Amino acid sequence: MSDNLELNPRALAARLSGKHLIDGQLVGSLSGRTFDVINPATREVIAQSPYGEAADVSSAVESAAAAQKSWAKVKARERGRLISECGRRLMEHVEELGRLVALETGKALRTESRVEASVLADAFTFYGGLGSEIKGETIPFDTNMLTMTVPQPIGVVGAIIPWNVPMLLMALKIAPALVAGNSVVVKSAEEAPLAVLRVAEIMNQVLPPGVFNIISGFGPECGAPLVVHPKVAKISFTGSVETGKLVAKAAAEKIVPVTLELGGKSPMIIFADADLDRVVNGAISGMRFTRQGQSCTAASRMFVHEDIHDAFVERLIARVNALKMGDPLDEATDIGTIISKGQYETVKRYVELGKNTPGAVANVCNKLPDDPRLADGLFLQPVIFTNMTNDMTLCQEEIFGPVTCVIKWSDYETMLSEANGTDFGLAATVWTNDLKLAMDAIHRLEAGFVQVNQNLVVQAALPYGGVKKSGLGKEASLEAMIEHFTKKKTIIINMT
Ligand code: NAI
Ligand code: MG
Repeated sequence: MSDNLELNPRALAARLSGKHLIDGQLVGSLSGRTFDVINPATREVIAQSPYGEAADVSSAVESAAAAQKSWAKVKARERGRLISECGRRLMEHVEELGRLVALETGKALRTESRVEASVLADAFTFYGGLGSEIKGETIPFDTNMLTMTVPQPIGVVGAIIPWNVPMLLMALKIAPALVAGNSVVVKSAEEAPLAVLRVAEIMNQVLPPGVFNIISGFGPECGAPLVVHPKVAKISFTGSVETGKLVAKAAAEKIVPVTLELGGKSPMIIFADADLDRVVNGAISGMRFTRQGQSCTAASRMFVHEDIHDAFVERLIARVNALKMGDPLDEATDIGTIISKGQYETVKRYVELGKNTPGAVANVCNKLPDDPRLADGLFLQPVIFTNMTNDMTLCQEEIFGPVTCVIKWSDYETMLSEANGTDFGLAATVWTNDLKLAMDAIHRLEAGFVQVNQNLVVQAALPYGGVKKSGLGKEASLEAMIEHFTKKKTIIINMT
């Protein structure tokens, strides 16, 4: 084990309190202002976050811009080797990072937080191996000319990340950006600034100072100045549609490329022949019940064929009831908390709206923890709404909480047009053993990521990203690195 491993997440939170990481150093905000970082399971203040503003953004971007010049000259394969080395070190810190992210986000350690930490390390390992794959094309345009394209680094990348899977979603942006020769400034999510800061600290043991910087603060005061900064040449954003629009508008003003990973209202389509046990397991993982449904890919609309509808609903409720809600740091816990009081109130409003929607039936599952230490915690009972129709608000808007809607269907064409009947198009799953049916649905679903008979989370190597209002561009793949983190130069050499 590494000698600086810190397995007490409260002590680690206290040590990281009040810091950005700029130019290889942990530093406070220039104004000295901070705000509270809260453990949502107990509502205790576990640390301060620096209150980042435009001056902090400038300091981070200037550092990144200076460092990028020499970083771009490092051979791509060597940059990859350094990112692999970050992955190796992060793998040694999985337990520590898992506990810290569980403490600040309320995601259960065993089912979610430790898993995120190990997938984070794997994303670095994956991209670290791809340094030599950054290459262009030769074009046989004219026998007297050598014609080719060369991918070059873009410059300083600004990345804005959310709180639900903060380390992994950050890794999917920064690992490819860095291997491609860019430097990076990340604006972390105000609800979850600590684990990503610890990741940055570990990375900075390996990378030259300034190549990777992370600042913390609120969206309008800290995220917006990063997006508009003249030296930020590319923006990669994950979060809500509303904020995504603001980011895209600001990028348009500067004419810089932007990648957007926004929300979803992903359908899970269950045919009559589907294997019920597999489907119920898929619904548990697809809806991310153990992450309190806080996932852009959540299977939040379940279209269930009428022949198996009742059996499916009964088993799903039984399975959700069997999950244990409790202290996120307890190994026995399956389900932790909602991230923040604001999100907690938003989800509760949707549950109330559902209960007041004529026809809708609310199946409230599970039990709140009875541990008095958790009495103020942001725990919410999962709700499976049945008897839903796709036009209801609950079936149209992203709730980002432990709430799913079951829609019974009998006519395939009607069901498919409803499955496509939202503004979103992130993911979809299809459950049937009939390949012909599956192929038809695969081709006609308006979604960027379609799976049959499984419901996996984002995987390194598989291009991931949505259509319609779910976003622009793909992440998680070689293609993502070359298309989104390099600029293509066309070169023509006349030999005559
Ligand atoms: P948000 O989109 O406001 O926040 C995401 C990130 O953007 C945070 O780092 C935030 O500080 C930053 N941000 C906010 N305003 C900004 C601005 N004007 N300029 C630049 N950066 C800005 O999302 P929020 O408020 O955390 O959650 C609201 C809803 O968004 C959720 O209920 C959910 O529906 C959706 N969401 C989707 C996510 C996804 O994975 N696609 C992740 C988080 C939220
Ligand atoms: Mg917001």
